[in-house]
Amino acid sequence: MKNTMTMIDNRTGKSYEFDIQDATRGPSVVNISSFYAQTGMFTYDNGFTSTASCKSKITFIDGEKGELRYRGIKIEDLAPKRSYLETCYLLLNDRLPDEQELLKFDLELRHRSLLHENLKNIFATFPTGAHPMAALSAATAALSTFYYSHLDISDENGYQEMARRIIAKMPTLAAFAYRHSIGAPFIQPDIDRSYTENFLYMMRAYPGGKMHHGINGERKIKAIEIKALDTIFTLHADHEQNASTTTVRGVASTGAHPYVAISAGISALWGRAHGGANESVIKQLEMIGSVENVDKYIAKAKDPNDEFRLMGFGHRVYKNFDPRAKILKNLQDQLKDELNLDSNLMNIANKIEEIALADEYFISRKLYPNIDFYSGVILTALDIEKSMFTPIFVIGRTVGWITQWMEFKKDKEKKIARPRQLYLGK
Ligand code: ACO
Repeated sequence: MKNTMTMIDNRTGKSYEFDIQDATRGPSVVNISSFYAQTGMFTYDNGFTSTASCKSKITFIDGEKGELRYRGIKIEDLAPKRSYLETCYLLLNDRLPDEQELLKFDLELRHRSLLHENLKNIFATFPTGAHPMAALSAATAALSTFYYSHLDISDENGYQEMARRIIAKMPTLAAFAYRHSIGAPFIQPDIDRSYTENFLYMMRAYPGGKMHHGINGERKIKAIEIKALDTIFTLHADHEQNASTTTVRGVASTGAHPYVAISAGISALWGRAHGGANESVIKQLEMIGSVENVDKYIAKAKDPNDEFRLMGFGHRVYKNFDPRAKILKNLQDQLKDELNLDSNLMNIANKIEEIALADEYFISRKLYPNIDFYSGVILTALDIEKSMFTPIFVIGRTVGWITQWMEFKKDKEKKIARPRQLYLGK
């Protein structure tokens, strides 16, 4: 049996043959790279629902089974069992670190967490109140000016160093973007704190390092808060060829600087159909206001003449429960007592979930809660402003973007991303 697919043009009766390439997991692909040369036509796939844009060995998703694996390891075996830094190491190196390797990796990231003093001035040019996602995208692009001579690196050590640097600096960039947005002075990273704790520290501390929380006085960072945020970072670390990762690979394909590519990924992530959904979920729960109003908004979401959508529901790939959402739901239940979660928002969220999961509209369209549905409630419990929900997604996803960038650079078949069109103009 030949591993090919034959297509027939019914207008002419001509047939064309294309190779089928098998995957190690998931669907095979039909290699149509010779389609135009053979047929003189393009293929049309609006929203790329049937298109594999690259070959990859990093992350695997089975949307029907609700399965997610990083480098072959199931997400349930990483979050919350392994730390975010172990997950970063896994994605970058294709294996988990041993104790010594993890220690070295952690220390290097701590050392690299500082920003060049001049970079602070970038934030000063933005108005107070600037959305942290906009500031973060701009500051990440600006970071490339400090490492411009690194543009032409082409060896593994150079790639890995670029990766560790951006992973180390992203929490500092995000925290600075936040502090600027509220007009607060920047807090420099503290080398004695772990990756995730340091981010919470830079968000919360007063100059001099004191941790205060309104009239309640000293606000120590609790171990459970670090664990929750670390789990959120791990769950966001990579997600195959989603919109922002495709953007990063697209920019990388032109040979541009990797940090500019990541800046473009941050911009793509901001939209509410993608990473911006986590901020929108909480805004929507606040707008709904009480459990009594839930039915009204469910009806709006189902109305084909109403553009209202339930934020945090549905996913392009997961047509069964999002496995990341399952882990977060468990985490949310664990945190409920310890962190005194906002019960009104949680009650509204629980009610929406209960109704939607039993409603024919959502069942028939396979619309389940996604990761963003739960992450917002958890981040609210950690006293994190809504505007920082998507920057937190950025911190987690930076390792995925840079790993995908490295894979692209090493791909012997790489080409500039240059799709064609069905022209319908004059
Ligand atoms: N609420 C109500 N109806 C919905 C929702 C929703 N959240 N999502 C999809 N639908 C409906 C659509 O109206 C459509 O109905 P129809 O067949 O009657 O026209 C059907 O379900 C299919 O929707 P599409 O938009 O075609 O699905 P697609 O796979 O292109 O979109 C997306 C996926 C963008 C995530 C969508 O479900 C959505 O907008 N969800 C809300 C935003 C959100 O939570 N985004 C986060 C995604 S996860 C992430 O990026 C980390």
